[in-house]
Amino acid sequence: MPGHLALKGEKISLWTLTKDDIKLIWKYYGDFELRKYLERRWQPIYYEDEEKWYENIVKNKDENIVFCIVENSSNELVGLIGLHKIDSYSKHAELGYWIWRDYWNRGYATEAVKLTLKYAFEYLNLNKVWARALESNKASQRVLEKNGFKLVGKLRRHNYTPGEGFVDELYYDLLKEEWGH
Ligand SMILES: CC(C)(COP(=O)(O)OP(=O)(O)OC[C@H]1O[C@@H](n2cnc3c(N)ncnc32)[C@H](O)[C@@H]1OP(=O)(O)O)[C@@H](O)C(=O)NCCC(=O)NCCS
Repeated sequence: MPGHLALKGEKISLWTLTKDDIKLIWKYYGDFELRKYLERRWQPIYYEDEEKWYENIVKNKDENIVFCIVENSSNELVGLIGLHKIDSYSKHAELGYWIWRDYWNRGYATEAVKLTLKYAFEYLNLNKVWARALESNKASQRVLEKNGFKLVGKLRRHNYTPGEGFVDELYYDLLKEEWGH
């Protein structure tokens, strides 16, 4: 069960992680289909990897903040969202997220991004949040666009994905002054 409530939304809320969450996260995140568009996507994830990842998150909270996405109606953990590579000097961070497949297309990622932007701009006082999405990951691009992110560039044929070959990596960002407009 997640730790503390950080931000409450209509359908989902963001909670801090606890060690007890690791087992479910490992089960979900280990799914190759879910990780198709994420980093380390074709490596097996062992339980020990997940424990080290958790310890790293706890130790490096100045650089990485990860929240559990919890469904309000069931209190179930349905995904994770995080701000990574937090640069408190230049005031930006990279956004990353995933939702377990059973819960796709219910607007959960869109709302989780909305809440995380509030956290980034109001709590951490960042100036910019940026994100990457593979060209073939249309759902993620839609989530970013629905939250006002702008496509600012791409690395051509930057990532290899079986069945798709080398695909472009798209870069998006959102400035604090553009947020909510
Ligand atoms: C990307 C992901 C987080 C989206 O989560 P979600 O909770 O289903 O997202 P939402 O329901 O908030 O929004 C999804 C949007 O994409 C659209 N969409 C879904 N599949 C699509 C597709 N194949 N083509 C075009 N649009 C698509 C949905 O219709 C919806 O848009 P709408 O509200 O305008 O109808 C989820 O699919 C996921 O976890 N994927 C694997 C991990 C991942 O890709 N993470 C992001 C890495 S950049």
